[in-house]
Amino acid sequence: MQIERMNENHIDDVYLISLEEFKENSWSKNLFIKELQDNKFKDAFVGIKNNQVVGFVNLCFNDEEMTILNLATKSAFKRQNVAKMLMQTAFEVAKNKSISRMFLEVEVDNFPAINLYKKFGFEVLKIRKNYYPNHHDALEMIKYLSD
Ligand SMILES: CC(C)(COP(=O)(O)OP(=O)(O)OC[C@H]1O[C@@H](n2cnc3c(N)ncnc32)[C@H](O)[C@@H]1OP(=O)(O)O)[C@@H](O)C(=O)NCCC(=O)NCCS
Repeated sequence: MQIERMNENHIDDVYLISLEEFKENSWSKNLFIKELQDNKFKDAFVGIKNNQVVGFVNLCFNDEEMTILNLATKSAFKRQNVAKMLMQTAFEVAKNKSISRMFLEVEVDNFPAINLYKKFGFEVLKIRKNYYPNHHDALEMIKYLSD
């Protein structure tokens, strides 16, 4: 799989994956486009296999902190290390920007994602009640990075 920086040509595929995976909690297509345009404190990547987008990750950051805004793998490509490679890319960006803390939110019953994040060393910081448009709770997770 190749990792590429997300661009506007990827957005239709990214949005379809997002709709399939996040359903009513998905970002709109416009929000994906807007996030790409606001590239000073944002970055985004896609995983490509055989010329098709099979996963994506959106990141935002400031001087010291990075947040993984969303991450998904197209269903036919799950359990093939797509998310692992996208997470490794996020960690490379974090390292290059000397980020010291990484954050993310994940639905409390999303075991595949929680497993993935724990594998990358994230710990639960707190529960955010009623966090999603569907009113489900989120876990806020954190990972401290050392030099
Ligand atoms: C969570 C998600 C991104 C994982 O993507 P993936 O490409 O299938 O994950 P990978 O193959 O890279 O797996 C990496 C690790 O994640 C964990 N994992 C992934 N799927 C899992 C599952 N179904 N059950 C348990 N653990 C799972 C495992 O720890 C796995 O490592 P292992 O294969 O060595 O056991 C994917 O299931 C998805 O898109 N879910 C819907 C969207 C979502 O919930 N995104 C995250 C919230 S922002």
